[in-house]
Parts: sequence; C-alpha cells; structure tokens
Amino acid sequence: METKRKSSFTGSLGFVLAAAGSAVGVGNIWRFPYLAAKDGGGLFLIIYLVLVLTFGFTLLVTDVAIGRRTKTNALHAFGNINKKWTFLGYVTFLVPAIIMTYYSVIGGWILKYLSVYLIGSGTEAAGDGYFTSFITSPVSPIFFMLVFLAFTAFIVYRGVEKGIEKFARIVMPGLLLMIIGIGLFSLTLKFREADGTIRTGLQGLAVYLIPNFDGITPARFLEILLDAMSQLFFSLSVSMGIMITYGSYVDKEVNLNRSLSHIEIFDTAVAFLAGMMIIPAVYVFFGTEGMASGPSLMFVSLPKVFEAMGPMGPFLGLAFFLMVLFAALTSSVSIMETLTANCMDIFHSARKKTSLVICLIFAAASVVICLGYNIFYFELTLPNGATAQLLDLMDYISNSFLMPFISLLTCVFVGWIVGPKWICEEMEASGHPFSRKKMYVFMIKYVTPVIMAVLFLQSAGVFNMFS
Ligand code: PFF
Repeated sequence: METKRKSSFTGSLGFVLAAAGSAVGVGNIWRFPYLAAKDGGGLFLIIYLVLVLTFGFTLLVTDVAIGRRTKTNALHAFGNINKKWTFLGYVTFLVPAIIMTYYSVIGGWILKYLSVYLIGSGTEAAGDGYFTSFITSPVSPIFFMLVFLAFTAFIVYRGVEKGIEKFARIVMPGLLLMIIGIGLFSLTLKFREADGTIRTGLQGLAVYLIPNFDGITPARFLEILLDAMSQLFFSLSVSMGIMITYGSYVDKEVNLNRSLSHIEIFDTAVAFLAGMMIIPAVYVFFGTEGMASGPSLMFVSLPKVFEAMGPMGPFLGLAFFLMVLFAALTSSVSIMETLTANCMDIFHSARKKTSLVICLIFAAASVVICLGYNIFYFELTLPNGATAQLLDLMDYISNSFLMPFISLLTCVFVGWIVGPKWICEEMEASGHPFSRKKMYVFMIKYVTPVIMAVLFLQSAGVFNMFS
C-alpha cells in the first residue's frame, strides 16, 4: 500500500529545520521561562543544561536513530524491531494527543495578544489583571483558540508543510534576533516601588543566572529535577513519536551527530534567551513574589516591557507576537500532523477526512480546557508543588507523568533488549564517528532508566507520601 513513507528530507538542513520547527515553540518562549522563574532561576538553569547534554542527547539520538533505521513511524517502529514491544508505539501516541488539547489554547492566547497590538491596545494589555480577565472570560479565549486550531488544521489538511519550512528560514532567525534585542532591553529596565525600593533589570538577570540554594531539600530538588526533565521532553519533542517519524525521513548520508547537536543547541539557546527576556522584566515589575505566577508569566510581563519601550513598543509587540505565533504554528502543525498520520494508519482513512475529524475532536477538547479558567475552575496541588488548573493538569499528565514512563520503557528496550550497539551503528551509518558514544551507552543502559523510574514515581506523588 502507498503511504506517506515516500517523503524524505532533502538533506541535513531540511531535517534540522523541520525538527527545529517542531522543537522551537511555546515550550521555549512561554513554558521554559515560567518554570525557571518558579524553580529559582539559576538552579533550574544549571539542572536544565546538564540534562540537555546528557538525557536530552540520549533521548533525541534514540528516537531519531530508531526512526531512520526502521524507516517507519512510532506506531510500527517498536513492533518492527520486536513484536512484543508494539504497544510502546501506541503509548507514545497518547502524548501528542494530550498536548494538542492545550497547545491550541495557548496558541489562542498568543493570537489574542497579536490582535491587541494590531488594534493598538498594547497599553491596556500592560495593565494589571488584563490577562486574568481575558482567560477567565467565557467566549474570547475559545474564539481565539478555535482560530488557531483552524489555522493548524488547514495546514495539515492541505499538507503544505513544505511552504512552512521555507517561511521558517526567515522567521526563525528573525525570532532569535528579536528575543536577543528584547532581552537586552529588559536588562535596562528599572522600577521604583511606592516604598522607594528600586529594582533593576541587571538584578533580575542575577536572579535568573545565579543559583539560589535557599530552602533546597532533597524533595524540593526532586521537584525541580522533574520540572526540568518534563520541560526537556516537551521542548525537544522527544518520547512522543515525533522524532521517530522525522528520523524515518532522514537520508542515510546525513551526519546525525552534527544535525542532532544543531537541534539541541538551537532549541536550548532560544529557551535560554527567552528566559533572559522575561525573567529580569518580571523581577523588575513584580519582585521575587511575581516569579511564581506560572503560565501567565509571559503574557503579563512582556506587555509591560513593550510599554516601557515608549513609541517603538507597540510595533515591537506586534512583530514579536507574530513571530511567536509562527513558532507556535510550526509546532502545533507537527503535533497535529503526527496525530493525523497515525490515525490514517490505524483507521486506513484518507488525509482530508481524518484531519477534519481530528480537528473537531480537539476543538471540543480545547473548549473544555479553555473553560478550565471559567466554569470548570478548580485548584489542585500537584506533586511538583504547583497549583494546577485543567490546562496545567493536562500538561502535567503528558510531560511529567507519561513521558518519564515512555522514556523508561524505551531505555529498557534499547539498552537491554535490542542493545545500544543497534543505535550506535545507525549513528555511524553515514561514515561519521559517533562522538559521544561511550556516554550514550552508559546513559541508556544505567543512568536514564534509573532516573526515569525515580521521576515517574515522584510524578505519581509516591515520594510525597513519605514526607
Ligand atoms: N516542542 C514544542 C515546543 O517547545 O513548543 C512543543 C511540542 C511540539 C510538543 C511537538 C509536542 C510535540 F509533539
């Protein structure tokens, strides 16, 4: 049967761009900064960097090499290697399905802010309480979410990712430049409280970069570790089948070592710089108390930064949200594309019909998530110490709970059943040496399974029972 197996990337640049398009999204610009702020800045940053170089690398290599060697998507890849492990491919499918329910909600928030700058109401958006009154209103967040979802579905329906890739070449570097520019401006901010206390952007930068070990207990450290790891999964789009599918499109001649390093570096650099843009600003305007505000962080602090920029602010705000919207779209397209391709595979259905049905299902699910700030509002304390509403709960289930579980099983499978040699051979198939081979073997066999098991238990709240 003819399936979409035929498509392949033209070379390593095509692969890196497509994978980076999926990886760089709201995870980097919205999620990373608020976790860093909540988890004490510098400490989170160091933990995250160490994790990217060790676990991130291990998981990315595993996913992409499995894809390229089996030349098939996650649903079949595990079963192709070993029949008994077919189930794992289906479990990975759950992750993008859960993420999609709330990704378009955040996409809608971005769209809302874009429209605010478009009509010149940036000053209003910088006012206190603006974001909360928006997300708790009954209709507006649903409307913007639906528009975002419709955009995503349209692209998947038409199957025009190629056009998006071309666009990504312009937008991705543009986004990076803007984040650097706004980040530098954030460092020049200054704010005087009514009691005369002055806070500056540079002090905020120190909060972001210098680790703070105050009040760190083993339990708190585990919480931060789980947050950083869940961010890593989400940001690199690993352990959810996407990178397996992308790997299956990569030619044998491509030097995977180099391509994967580029993806890792680009994704991490965008996240790091987004933190530099947002955290000093939050510190300046709200002090350390403002740091724990969670998902609203970017939407509350950035309008204030644009406001402080004077006449240029509204234009920069407009350009910024346009680029973030684009980064969000390339990611959401990759999520919906995976869902569509998998369902086409399972139900033997045509692309157009499948993408329409998926769009309708996720529209309904995302309406429920939007209403999580309205009629379905609740406050739940998660095992990572955060107070969650519906959106955070879904995020927690996919990134903190399911992904360590999937990674644990993948590592046991690759490390102990198939053997790491199988992956190493694939990494060297292009004739280039696998530079971090020793580390990879050690990580996949010993370190990753143990840490994933600990994190999985932590995410299920098992350790909290003892404290
Ligand atoms: N990595 C994307 C981001 O950082 O925004 C999010 C993402 C893309 C998650 C693709 C899941 C996925 F399958």
